[in-house]
This record gives sequence, C-alpha cells and structure tokens, in this order.
Amino acid sequence: MTFNRNILITGGAGFIGTNLIFYLLNSCSRDRLVVLDALTYAGNLENIKSLIDSGRISFVHTDLSDIKYLESIIRDYNITHVMHLAAESHVDRSVTSPIDFINSNITGTFNLLEAFRANWERSDLNTNWRFLHVSTDEVFGSLNSSESPFIETSPYQPNSPYAATKASSDHIVRAWHETYNLPVLITNCSNNYGPFQFPEKLIPLTINNILLGKVIPLYGNGKNIRDWLYVEDHCSALELILNSGVVGSRYCIGGNNEMQNYQIIKEICEIMDDKFETLHTKPSINLVKFVKDRPGHDFRYAINSEKLINELGWIPKVNIRQGLEKTVSWYTSNYDWINNITSIDFTKYISNQYGGIL
Ligand code: NAD
Ligand code: DAU
Repeated sequence: MTFNRNILITGGAGFIGTNLIFYLLNSCSRDRLVVLDALTYAGNLENIKSLIDSGRISFVHTDLSDIKYLESIIRDYNITHVMHLAAESHVDRSVTSPIDFINSNITGTFNLLEAFRANWERSDLNTNWRFLHVSTDEVFGSLNSSESPFIETSPYQPNSPYAATKASSDHIVRAWHETYNLPVLITNCSNNYGPFQFPEKLIPLTINNILLGKVIPLYGNGKNIRDWLYVEDHCSALELILNSGVVGSRYCIGGNNEMQNYQIIKEICEIMDDKFETLHTKPSINLVKFVKDRPGHDFRYAINSEKLINELGWIPKVNIRQGLEKTVSWYTSNYDWINNITSIDFTKYISNQYGGIL
C-alpha cells in the first residue's frame, strides 16, 4: 500500500491520542500512522494493541527525552506530519510533581521539534509537511463570570505548573515557525471527555466512584466552570486543522458547553441513577463531598471556536447530554479497562491531598 502521508502521533496510548487514532483510521485516509508513547501511568498499550498486532499502525515505545532517537524515528519512517499530544496532562499532579511536566512538556516538545526540523531541512520534498502542536485553553488563565470566552489572540496567563509548561511549549513551537519557518500549527482546546480517559479526571472519576460507592470529591464550592467537548469532536477538529489549517496559525477549539462542576456531576449522577436499578448509594448525588480546593484553581474556562467554524468549517456533533450518555455507557460496559488500571497501580499514583480521591 502506498501512503499519502506518514503521520507521527505522540501520546497515542493516552486518552485523546487513542481516540484520535481510531478516528483517523475510521476516516478512511491513506495515511500511515506511527504512534510514539513512553507508556507512563496515563498511557495504556492495551487501548491500541489490536491495531498494532493487525499492522494498522506502527508503535514506537520511547520517551521524548532522547532527541537522537527521535531524529532517527522521524527519518526512518519518513515522517511528514506530526500530531504532538504526548504530555503530562493532570493539573493536580503538576502541583505535587512539576519536574515531570517540565521534562515532558517543555523539553520533550523542544526535542521533538528539533528532530522534526532536522529531517524537514534535509528534505527537498517538504512543502506539505506539518507539525501540529496540541495544547490547552489553560494557557490563557482564568476568566471571571462576565468576561468573553478565550480567542486565538487572548493573552497568556497560565496559573498552574501544568498550564505554564503547556504555555512554554506553545511559545517554543511558535518561535520555531517565526525563526526557522517550520510549518507549525497550534491548537488550544477546552476540557475533553469520553472513552479511555484516565479515572483521575473529573468525569471518569465520578462515574467510577458512583460504581464503587465512593465519595465524589468536589473541590472548593463546586462552582468552577469548564467548557466540555466530546473527544471525538476534538479529533475531527485536529484532523481538519492538520489538513487545512493555515501554517503558522493557532486555532481555539471549544465545546460551547460551559458548566459548573456541581452541575456536570449532577447530570452524571442522574444518568447513572436512571441506568442502574441498584447502586451502592442512590441517589448518587449523595456521594458528593465538598473538599479542600485545588491550589490556584482556575475559576472559569470558555472558548470561542468561531475561527475554526467560519474559516475551516468545523462542525462539532455531540451535545453534552449525548456525550455524557455515551461516556457512561462506555465506562460501564468496559469496566475491565478501569479495573485493569486500578488493579495495577492507579492508586499509588494518585495524590489525595486535595480531596481524598482514593
Ligand atoms: P493523557 O495523560 O491521557 O495522555 C498523555 C500520553 O502522553 C500518555 O499516553 C503518556 O504515556 C504520554 N507521554 C507523557 N509523557 C511522555 C513523554 N515524555 N514521552 C512520550 N510520551 C509521553 O493526556 P490527554 O488528556 O490525552 O492529553 C493529550 C494532549 O492534549 C496533551 O498534550 C494535553 O495537554 C492536551 N489537551 C488535553 C485536554 C483534555 O481535556 N484532556 C484538553 C486540551 C488539550
Ligand atoms: O481545559 C483543558 C484541560 O482540562 C486540559 O488541558 C487538562 O489536560 C485536563 O486535565 C483538564 O484540566 P482540568 O483541571 O480542568 O480537569 P480535571 O478533570 O482535573 O478537573 C475538572 C474540574 O473539576 C476542575 O475545576 C477541578 C474539578 N475537580 C477535579 C477533580 C479531579 C473536582 O472538583 N474534583 C476532582 O476530584
């Protein structure tokens, strides 16, 4: 089979990466997918093992710290496009262990960029090559309740160590375009949810704790706001931007779905109560416990995706109720997936100092 493009997907064994791989394979493209992942606690090879075994994707197990190895992978697979998702992604962990975030998110991104640049500069056929850097809305800081949603030109004001490392990597990627003319694209997306998300994040944690009859820890007063996007809609945006985004540009991606944390938990509890006749605790909302707030907890994120919608024609398809139902359905019918994580080493990695997550 001849491939149109050879796409390197970093972080492909994680939450969004796994969904992206399935999405791209289903969209019938003639691209070769090479997946790179260090398989940290958040990376699960089982997610994509059947695709590796059947030869539908290639897999490279490595950390982004080894720049020479990255260069050889990019050269050997003749990588023309990079979708860079690998990162330490959980804000609470960045509070307790920021060094991992500096290494993976900043130095890792630098190494990958340099490895890609070396091959890009060597090639005579590089006009359509792209480096897509997948980032977050957290780089813009926090909104109050009356401010307009973030847009592509919003100033950077990262508040957590996680956000600061993502902001730093965004700046590095942008500078590589300005300085070396590297064909980069940057995306800043709001909170994703859906299948394969590690159960340290609010939505899968809530579903899992309801199933186990454990407390659902709600930070602070529960009124912080996030803009939720179903992961498949994020994937469709990334594919579109890779194919049609203007080189050197940034695109904001959001769900247009702002909800207070208490509200979203309440909705999940309702779905769970409807779905299961018996649960450890019913109604599930009784499991909610207000706990100590996350330090530097951003009050509100919201994204205006008009540029992506108007210029590239992005159409998100899944509304929040459908998305939550699909997510609950996936977790409850793939309970082995969570079980395998929890039985191995989930608990030992979790910091419970902000709310007794365990
Ligand atoms: P995740 O934690 O589920 O997955 C991250 C993956 O990266 C894991 O498979 C992990 O093994 C791998 N990884 C981590 N450090 C690595 C390293 N040094 N070398 C190689 N691989 C490494 O994260 P996610 O939620 O899927 O997020 C993916 C990307 O999207 C991240 O860059 C994140 O900042 C960004 N993002 C996430 C969200 C969200 O709501 N989850 C929203 C916007 C942007
Ligand atoms: O906005 C995009 C970001 O969304 C991504 O860049 C990050 O990688 C991703 O982790 C996510 O960050 P958040 O910190 O918003 O997600 P989290 O699921 O950790 O928390 C969502 C909200 O719920 C937040 O306001 C904190 C709160 N929360 C979280 C947990 C885990 C609780 O109240 N209780 C909890 O136990």
